[in-house]
Amino acid sequence: MKMKTTTILELMTADHTKILKLLHDVEKSIGIELVSLMKVFDTFEWELEKHIFTEEKAIFSSYNPKNILEGYKMVPELVQQHNEILNKIRIMRKDLMWNKTVKFHEFKEFIMAHKTFEEASLYPKLDQELTTGQKEEIIKKIREIV
Ligand SMILES: [Fe+2]
Ligand SMILES: [Fe+2]
Repeated sequence: MKMKTTTILELMTADHTKILKLLHDVEKSIGIELVSLMKVFDTFEWELEKHIFTEEKAIFSSYNPKNILEGYKMVPELVQQHNEILNKIRIMRKDLMWNKTVKFHEFKEFIMAHKTFEEASLYPKLDQELTTGQKEEIIKKIREIV
């Protein structure tokens, strides 16, 4: 029996799930002692930043889209959204530190839309268009980081 090959989609979807769980942990920790709350936040931020680094440095950079117009438009848009996400978590850190209300709902909506696009459009396309060799190289890099 042939073993099913791991796909980029599977690995990155699992990482999305992990990050959402960590965000949920932050939300649940509101009200606990500040030092502990910031520790929970640090874990979330670390995993999210690692994820974005992986996407930009190991995945997007190896993507040579077949449909140039469509493909090359997709990557800058996703990178722009990453910058917005990073900016939002910087604000979130400040709000938590100063005990201000965090807009979890708004933040979650933003990252869910981003995640859905990657899982529905980007990653299936990469798994389909890249050669086995290219995919293996990317998967090796992903495993080094996430
Ligand atoms: Fe992303
Ligand atoms: Fe992602």
